[in-house]
Amino acid sequence: MKEKLQVGVLGFGTVGSGVVHILEEHKSKISQVTGYEIAIKTVLVRDLEKKRRHETTGSIKLTTDPDEVLEDPEIGVVVEVMGSITTAREYILRALKAGKQVVTANKDLIALHGDELVTAAQENQCDLFYEASVAGGVPILRTIVNSLAADKIKKVMGIVNGTTNFMLTKMATEQKTYEEALLEAQNLGFAEADPTNDVDGIDAAYKMVILTRLAFGMNVRLDDVKVAGIRGISPQDVVISDQLGYQVKLVGLAEERDETVSVHVGPALLAKAHPLAGVNHENNAVFITGAAVGETMFYGPGAGKGPTAISVVSDLIIAAKNIRLGTTGNAFNNFKHETKYTPDEQIFSKYYLRLKMNDKTGTFLKLTQIFAEAGVGFDKILQKPFDEYTATVVIITHVTSKAQLEKALKRTKQEPEIKLITNYSVVEV
Ligand code: NAP
Ligand code: HSE
Repeated sequence: MKEKLQVGVLGFGTVGSGVVHILEEHKSKISQVTGYEIAIKTVLVRDLEKKRRHETTGSIKLTTDPDEVLEDPEIGVVVEVMGSITTAREYILRALKAGKQVVTANKDLIALHGDELVTAAQENQCDLFYEASVAGGVPILRTIVNSLAADKIKKVMGIVNGTTNFMLTKMATEQKTYEEALLEAQNLGFAEADPTNDVDGIDAAYKMVILTRLAFGMNVRLDDVKVAGIRGISPQDVVISDQLGYQVKLVGLAEERDETVSVHVGPALLAKAHPLAGVNHENNAVFITGAAVGETMFYGPGAGKGPTAISVVSDLIIAAKNIRLGTTGNAFNNFKHETKYTPDEQIFSKYYLRLKMNDKTGTFLKLTQIFAEAGVGFDKILQKPFDEYTATVVIITHVTSKAQLEKALKRTKQEPEIKLITNYSVVEV
């Protein structure tokens, strides 16, 4: 008879029910790997009367009282899969102070309060793991902190939000409307309780903050991440991009340059031959460039019950092994570097610009003059009549600095006959 390791789970929604299911389904393997019989004792929910798609087995107690998890001395590990920031932070701090190991899937919390929680974990000799917080079932955080520990990472580029990638795929391949695609993503359990963070790029930004911390050792603030979501994407941009050989995706990019970092999230045009361009549905991928390893990509389901639960339970298994070995309390990531931001003069990209311009002689000349004065060159140009008086002009620039582009766009704003509609970065192979 193996020793029992009792677990308390905070939350019994998509991920929580997945954790319960995986621990039951893969019980024998998990027991062999850890040397424990891992058993969920108590699960915290908000509403005991709620009709649930997944039921618990008889030995698991559902409760609405957090003390039944946090103050139960028999519970050695707490799994936080309830979401939110304030309450989850409070419960995790209480669990750590009570000497319990903690596993969480909560990227909002780790991105905003990671430092505080890591310190509390170390002060209490406890593990705090959060693999599921980024890219669902893709084990990207441990890959960065373990397998790529020897390399100097230069760039991390990722499709890290399953909901928006699912929506963009459905809109592009099945002509679903934005609303239909979002509803489907919600029904499949990919979206956050409030999907605003998904569609506005905030969820991806949280994940990029965590990836930046692990890859570059730098603690960027969410406010310093330039974020745009997918609400504004027009079918016109998707069609034109396709004609020009690109795929529109919501991309997060963190790049190191001379010991500084820039991080942003937004729609981007990916050359169709780029490995990230083929990442569809709720799948995520993180494309990492290392000074020595070169380019690597890690791909898999980024959201949903099963994949996310696998990452959570894998963290739980590592915590269990650490309890057995008496080695809890080592930080998930020890790499730290002073945080410095790259100035706009040193951030380089190609850009896709869609403009609406008066279709009269001289307007295009004015546009080229403005861009030439800012030092921005054109790589591709497309012009189509919009109506009798205006034209749609699409430009793909040469590689240019963000500062140069901003200068050109600021000048363009002063011209009433030129209106910028879309401004996305372009990623070539
Ligand atoms: P969910 O389906 O909305 O489930 C949340 C669960 O937490 C529910 O069971 C809810 O109880 C419970 N809960 C919420 N607030 C509570 C409170 N104050 N007190 C007690 N119980 C509370 O959420 P989810 O999709 O499983 O996501 C959970 C966490 O995992 C979030 O941090 C999310 O960002 C993260 N995550 C999710 C995915 C995904 O694909 N869904 C992937 C990676 C990470 P009731 O059931 O009674 O309402
Ligand atoms: N809402 C998130 C997504 C869940 O769609 O990617 C996984 O973190």
